[in-house]
Amino acid sequence: MRGSSRHKLLVACGLAAASALLVLYLGQQALECQARGGPGEARGPEDPRWLGWDELAGKENTRSSDAMGVHRRQGLVVFDPVRREFRYNESIPIIFIGGFPRSGTTLMRVMLDAHSQVRCGEETRVVPRVLGMHQMWMKSEKERVRLAEAGVTDAVLDDAVRAFVLEIVAKHGEPAQRLCNKDPFALKSLSYLATLFPESRFLLMLRDGRASVHSMISRHVTVSGFDLSSYRDCLSKWSRAVEGMHAQCLAVGPRRCMAVRYETLALRPEATMREALAFLGLPWEAAVLHHEDMIGKAGGVSLSKVERSTDQVVKPVNLEALARWVGQIPHDVVRDMAEVAPMLDRLGYDPRANPPRYGTPESRVVDNTRKIKQRNATAVP
Ligand code: A3P
Repeated sequence: MRGSSRHKLLVACGLAAASALLVLYLGQQALECQARGGPGEARGPEDPRWLGWDELAGKENTRSSDAMGVHRRQGLVVFDPVRREFRYNESIPIIFIGGFPRSGTTLMRVMLDAHSQVRCGEETRVVPRVLGMHQMWMKSEKERVRLAEAGVTDAVLDDAVRAFVLEIVAKHGEPAQRLCNKDPFALKSLSYLATLFPESRFLLMLRDGRASVHSMISRHVTVSGFDLSSYRDCLSKWSRAVEGMHAQCLAVGPRRCMAVRYETLALRPEATMREALAFLGLPWEAAVLHHEDMIGKAGGVSLSKVERSTDQVVKPVNLEALARWVGQIPHDVVRDMAEVAPMLDRLGYDPRANPPRYGTPESRVVDNTRKIKQRNATAVP
């Protein structure tokens, strides 16, 4: 009898211990599940867009700077649809394309997207906002002191901003050998990005400010702080914004930043793209001259339905937009142009010529433009 009670007691204890272990195990699973995006969400190597901080680095449980160093070096792991693995960290040569809006930034990014090794994708919109926030924190000495007192040092902020930018750039599109980002005003923080990603490269798009501003005003493209009812206001603010980005491009030097004129890209796409690809360390591919054929294809060009330049970049490179601004700017602003927008002259755009001589076109863009005009003329209204 006594033996059998002891036996029952042992069995009961065994069951209790097993249940406790099961509860612990399930609890652990639930925690891991949450950390990976919650139950039910398809996340894992079988999901082609699965990405995560490297599992090896994740095994470090401590929050020491050493453990974070491991995270930073090993970075993100991404699988493409055929389960090829891509690893991204701060040392990758990300390509950042930017400049003043309406300067051909989308055209440049779709041409690069047509390259087999590159993926830029749509504007992320959040990257320049986070960089702008970081700029604001750094501007205020009082805020910096408060942050430092709280242990939020410059180094901690840099790690956080770097991780944010990398996550967004890597995860918002398909993986590729060379990641690229196009958010025009991200280049307001060009120097900072250059320190966060020491191997990154920058393509600063420049365009005749009269054309950029005419494009903004006529197409109602709002840019915060710009009064779209005034050419004078927009041109002077264009000048200041471009001055800041151009100065940073010069400061990081020609190994890191290349200024590309929209006019040159539109007039001589082959010569310009050959130069741009050489600067980026990418092999020449003629596909970049036919981006329109790559739209919607895997590994090709993905377009946003809501971006303002989408209806223009679906066309092959053409000359339609080069001098559209001529005759559209109020006379008093044209008269004062050199003073209103001093960057025109500094960038080599004659402020007194309406329009200046932008250069000689390659024959392919002349053909493209003629075909587009013919198509427009025969289009049913
Ligand atoms: P317009 O608005 O003057 O037409 P962004 O993408 O930086 O906002 O720049 C938009 C400008 O790039 C537009 O200027 C647009 O015409 C021009 N663009 C877009 N696709 C183009 C193409 N296929 N060929 C030539 N220019 C193009």
